[in-house]
Amino acid sequence: MNEEARKRLIFALDVDCFDDAEKWVKLLHRQVGLFKVGKQLFTRCGPEVVHMIRGEGGEVFLDLKYHDIPNTVAMAGVEACRLGVRMFNVHALGGREMMEKTVAEVDALYPRGSKERPLLLAVTILTSSTEETLRGVGIDRPVSEMVPRLARLAQEAGMDGVVASPREVGLIRQACGGNFAVVTPGVRPGFASLDDQKRVTTPGEAIAAGADYLVIGRPIAAASDPVAAAEAILAEMTLALERV
Ligand code: C5P
Repeated sequence: MNEEARKRLIFALDVDCFDDAEKWVKLLHRQVGLFKVGKQLFTRCGPEVVHMIRGEGGEVFLDLKYHDIPNTVAMAGVEACRLGVRMFNVHALGGREMMEKTVAEVDALYPRGSKERPLLLAVTILTSSTEETLRGVGIDRPVSEMVPRLARLAQEAGMDGVVASPREVGLIRQACGGNFAVVTPGVRPGFASLDDQKRVTTPGEAIAAGADYLVIGRPIAAASDPVAAAEAILAEMTLALERV
């Protein structure tokens, strides 16, 4: 199996209890490099779920999308580092100072280049937001302008990358260049159903567009053979990685 592809595949652990989380981690940790723990699972199980994943040899993307005053987000980020997660995220809409303070506090704990240091990611505009949603909160700019603008802001603040729809990867690469991580959900291999995702790309297309990490949940979880589904995704990613 291609280790390069495995390191880039993130399984969305969208379950509501510890036992289910543990079952998925034990089943998939050979195929999947990282497990994404979101607000539901973390609120239910807390840090214990992160320790369990790491104990099984998996890495963690802590998807709590922090957005608060700079000091509060920075200190939450420090605790995420202490938990030993591989990546965590904040909302870029929290602003430059919030992101800069978070980067500074993380730098003080784990300097750049140290192996414990996680990737600090920013969410630009949630893919569930439309132009109407933005107008409702007083932002009269198109999503296609806001996404690269917020990605640039995150980069200038010292963040390591963004979470973005695969359709936005091109815009982000243009705005931020190659040395900036892009993590993309909304990925659907040919064999899977769309579920509630609307604008999707295949794993191969996402890698070809410049995505570094793919977040995939239901195409694996709902497959009759989840391990085989994950392996099919890895095979497609491997092919695409050989071409980039
Ligand atoms: O099951 P599926 O592959 O659609 O899961 C994708 C995961 O990525 C879910 O945890 C979802 O909340 C998350 N996500 C997303 N779209 C975004 C941001 C996060 O689907 N824009």
